[in-house]
Amino acid sequence: MGMFIVIEGIDGAGKSTQAKLLAEWFEERGHEVVLTKEPTDTAFGKLIRKLVLTGGKEGIIDGARISHEAEALLFAADRAEHVAKLIKPSVEAGKIVISDRYFYSSLAYQWARGLDLEWLIDLNRFAIRPDLVILLDLPVKESMKRINGRSIKTEFDKIAELQKRVRENYLKLAERFPEMRIVNALASVEDIHNDIVALVEHELLKK
Ligand SMILES: Nc1ncnc2c1ncn2[C@@H]1O[C@H](COP(=O)(O)OP(=O)(O)OP(=O)(O)O)[C@@H](O)[C@H]1O
Ligand SMILES: [Mg+2]
Repeated sequence: MGMFIVIEGIDGAGKSTQAKLLAEWFEERGHEVVLTKEPTDTAFGKLIRKLVLTGGKEGIIDGARISHEAEALLFAADRAEHVAKLIKPSVEAGKIVISDRYFYSSLAYQWARGLDLEWLIDLNRFAIRPDLVILLDLPVKESMKRINGRSIKTEFDKIAELQKRVRENYLKLAERFPEMRIVNALASVEDIHNDIVALVEHELLKK
């Protein structure tokens, strides 16, 4: 059996940066790595990318309003494909799967948008549990600074209030899900990478 590791955190927390560094770290040690992300690049993922999010209001796809529930179902459908077609077979084949976001993102963001947490957890019951979830935690002010230079901005980027709720939700989720570990994402890229490697080595030793 391989290993399934997830990197989570608010927008601009450094997830993609750290996921790539961790993938390289495993590859240098001779492991076969699958670096993946959510939303995925499948048809469902593409539909999600069309979704224009609005502050607590309903999202919009191709000019039509989409309820929060439909949004959650879209993310879950994308994840169902991700788990069945890529994550599960790869882990079973002995590979190291690293996913940039997973169902914890759905819980943190959609809960912040007013949906019921228990319904969201039930909806994602099919999603296999990772061996380790790294939560990159930092104040919203800092993450917003990091992504300020980006040309394409989602509504999520713009709404600091929502991001703050998402950060709080992630921290609450870390109390509930024992696989989640909080890493201080205010540090340098290298220091954060070293913290993540220490956690991974600790997890590997347990097996
Ligand atoms: N530890 C760090 N210190 C300072 N800047 C950082 C750090 N880590 C990443 N960055 C920079 O911050 C920006 C956001 O990083 P990154 O894209 O990895 O975040 P992300 O969590 O994947 O964002 P998103 O949620 O939007 O995908 C990038 O420009 C990156 O180079
Ligand atoms: Mg990213």
